[in-house]
Amino acid sequence: MARKGDNVVVSSMKLEKLLCMKGGKGEGSYASNSQAQALHARSMLHLLEETLDRVHLNSPEFPFQVADLGCSSGNNTIHIIDVIIKHMIKRFESSGLEPPEFSAFFADLPSNDFNTLFQLLPPPANYGGSMEECLAASGHRNYFAAGVPGSFYRRLFPARSIDVFHSAFSLHWLSQVPECVLDKRSAAYNKGRVFIHDASEATTNAYRKQFQADLAGFLSARSQEMKSGGSMFLVCLGRTSADPTDQGGAGHLFGTHFQDAWDDLVQEGLITSEKRDSFNIPVYAPSLQDFKEVVEANGSFTIDKLEVFKGGSPLVVNHPDNAAEVSRAMANSCRSVVGVLVDAHIGDKLSEELFSRVERRAKSHAKELLEKLQFFHIVASLSFA
Ligand SMILES: C[S@@+](CC[C@H](N)C(=O)[O-])C[C@H]1O[C@@H](n2cnc3c(N)ncnc32)[C@H](O)[C@@H]1O
Repeated sequence: MARKGDNVVVSSMKLEKLLCMKGGKGEGSYASNSQAQALHARSMLHLLEETLDRVHLNSPEFPFQVADLGCSSGNNTIHIIDVIIKHMIKRFESSGLEPPEFSAFFADLPSNDFNTLFQLLPPPANYGGSMEECLAASGHRNYFAAGVPGSFYRRLFPARSIDVFHSAFSLHWLSQVPECVLDKRSAAYNKGRVFIHDASEATTNAYRKQFQADLAGFLSARSQEMKSGGSMFLVCLGRTSADPTDQGGAGHLFGTHFQDAWDDLVQEGLITSEKRDSFNIPVYAPSLQDFKEVVEANGSFTIDKLEVFKGGSPLVVNHPDNAAEVSRAMANSCRSVVGVLVDAHIGDKLSEELFSRVERRAKSHAKELLEKLQFFHIVASLSFA
């Protein structure tokens, strides 16, 4: 395990062991700060259902297997699996076929809070009963569930075992910060910044290359694991600008008040500028073109749909005019996704200081934040012949 305060965001193996959204159910946890993702996912349900309508229905004697990649630890993944399985049951029934048994795999990196996730799962239906009883049991899950720890940039499942892959709001996480970005001698060294928004071309190009290499690894692994006739629905942060130094919503989240808060810590002498510069957020919001190039080069999947979809704000507040509520939502939202990395880099106490500065700075720009902090997503529906 990485020690607190170490510069841990370097190699892919280190990041893989560390990266997770904030676990538990507390105020700063992902489970308590993922309503925006839930809303954005809901607005794309028709696209997910279109993808599911393309999946081949196989013989009921084989289990139908679904995997959610980058499931994290809130209710969102459970809801999506429920939507997918209910939709597939309807399809089997309306085709006059007996639905098979279903398995759902919840996959994420090993540090993910699988305990919280498993506690949120509805109890299993009575599998000793008939299939009709099992499918009709409301408040129960009509699928077998399993957690799968590991990076989705590599193999996670046996060959030809999965009918549907789903992944939401996860593929923009890189497997690592490119090494040149942390190398003082490199033209890509991201001096003075913790994210690539408004960074140099060399820095952003290194991130783009890393994103494309990672996505290539992801597709290659899935092309071995997917059953013939299966489909995949992928959603990740994206951008509308061709220019990667404009990271859109991700740029606003990590490139404004979050960046300024790091600068505050340096100016107040709480950390050195080197400490700040050795922290970089391993996120890249691709353009449609960045994404498409990789899928086409891989060649294993048919692109049924590939588009940029407006998601909306990541800040869900009850009183948009209340600057304190907006700024708290901004700090919590940021913390729920990158808090674990920040804690590991500067320790819990300084991390607390950092996020209180994010909140303070956001408070005087609350109205602007609600308007400007808008996410766009790349949505891909891919099928495997
Ligand atoms: C923002 S959460 C998305 C959670 C959930 N899909 C939802 O819709 O709310 C992103 C998740 O992707 C996971 N993740 C990032 N990189 C990963 C990787 N290489 N392999 C597996 N999971 C990864 C993170 O640990 C995190 O739980």
